[in-house]
Parts: sequence; structure tokens; C-alpha cells
Amino acid sequence: MKPIVFVKAAMSLDGKIATKTGESQWISNEASRAYVHGLRAEYAAICVGVETVIQDDPRLTIRHDGKEDCHIRMVLDSKGRIPLTSKLLNDDFRSQTIVFTTQHMPLNIEQQILSKGARVIRLKDQDGRVDLKDWIDVCANLNIPSIYIEGGGEVIAASLKAEIVDIFAVAIAPMIIGGQDAKGIVGGSGIEHLKDAIRLKNPKYRWFEDDLILEYHVVKGNKQ
Ligand SMILES: NC(=O)c1ccc[n+]([C@@H]2O[C@H](COP(=O)([O-])OP(=O)(O)OC[C@H]3O[C@@H](n4cnc5c(N)ncnc54)[C@H](OP(=O)(O)O)[C@@H]3O)[C@@H](O)[C@H]2O)c1
Repeated sequence: MKPIVFVKAAMSLDGKIATKTGESQWISNEASRAYVHGLRAEYAAICVGVETVIQDDPRLTIRHDGKEDCHIRMVLDSKGRIPLTSKLLNDDFRSQTIVFTTQHMPLNIEQQILSKGARVIRLKDQDGRVDLKDWIDVCANLNIPSIYIEGGGEVIAASLKAEIVDIFAVAIAPMIIGGQDAKGIVGGSGIEHLKDAIRLKNPKYRWFEDDLILEYHVVKGNKQ
């Protein structure tokens, strides 16, 4: 069975997930971040794009009451750009890291990742990047029932475009970042006509002090 895919990122009220220099820690407040750690625990795997690893060097672990745990951690990295010094490849949970890549990852990079104890899975490529439909099929074959995509904007855009997302959520923080060069929550090239917009339904919301977390189901095949 295909995994359930949940997407969530934290954004400013004007829809930015980072400043123009790539700073994103922290947009959301402590209360909503604590909730996110609970959410991470609900999903079998967590996934980010390689730019997020390059920029933030995240741990993608579940931290609660001073304890740290980890489910499967995935990186979409078509060309082998993941820094070999990244926490995902070097911490105590590195055997739970899977780097999904394509034929474009050089063999010596693959070997170095494997020698650290993480996994590498080569997938089909689509326009030079990991083919997300293939990724979901492989995750289904690995019996991964659910995936939490935590950004960034390019991977969020691509996963929406590939129609693999079931639930879309945002944590909205009471701040304005601004700037054309600051990344928005959905990257990619966007749409030309509103009739092609991705539609959402069944809203749920929850306040975490001044942060608002909004969650919707994605309407599949939802062109008007
Ligand atoms: N506020 C938040 O909650 C939050 C969360 C996460 C990240 N961030 C911020 O977001 C920024 C990074 O976001 P980003 O949009 O630049 O990058 P991203 O989505 O993290 O990563 C994009 C990269 O993923 C790789 N990739 C592999 N397969 C892909 C596919 N099918 N479609 C799209 N990308 C694919 C591509 O690199 P290759 O072509 O080399 O594979 C692409 O450049 C950072 O500044 C980070 O701090 C914020």
C-alpha cells in the first residue's frame, strides 16, 4: 500500500520559510515545535530535500522530555550533494538515514555514505531529479506506511505536483520576512492559471500561543 504523505513547514505570515540568506531557525515558537516533535513520532519516516540538509544540517529526530529517538530519515539528493559531515550521516541514528538518489550520484560518494552506515537507494530520475512517483512506490515496497515531508519549498512543490501528498499543513508564525529572494513554502515554477491551483479541503486548526497550525486534506486530481 502507498504511504500516507503529510507535508508541513513553518512559515511567516507572508508565506516565507526562510530569510533570503536561508535562515529558518526558528520561525515557529517553542510550543508549536514541541507539537511537531509529537507529529514526527506519528510518522514512520521523515523526509527533506538536500538543500535543507546543506542549509540547516537538521537532526530530524524526535526529542521529548530530554530523550531523543528517531524513525527513518530520508533525504532526496539526486546528485550526491549531501555534506558527508552532516548529522544525518554521522550521529547515533545514521543507520536510519536513507539517501534517495539517481544515476547522477557519483559512485565514490555512494561508497562514502555507505561506509558511514547510512543507506543509499537509487531511483529513476525525472528531469535530472529523483522521480517522486518511483520514490513512493519504493517506500511502499519497503513497507513504510507514512511519510512526513518537512521541506523545503522545492520538495514540497515537487511532491504536490506529483500528486503524492495527502495532508498539507503549515505552522504560521506572527512575523513578516518579506523579500523576493526569501523562499516561500511552495517553490517550483508555479501555475499560470487559477483553475490549475491545488485545492484543499477539511480544514483543522490549532493555536500554539501566537502560532497557528492549519491542516488540510489535499484534493487529488482536483483541477477545476
Ligand atoms: N520553515 C521551515 O519549516 C523549513 C523547513 C525545511 C527547510 N526550510 C528552509 O528551506 C530552505 C531549503 O529549501 P529549498 O526549497 O531551497 O530546498 P529543499 O526542498 O530542501 O531541497 C531541494 C533540493 O532537493 C533535491 N531534490 C531531489 N529530488 C527532488 C525533486 N523530485 N524535486 C525537487 N527537489 C528535489 C534537489 O537537489 P538536487 O537536484 O541536487 O537533488 C533540490 O534542489 C532552507 O533555507 C531551509 O532552512 C525551512
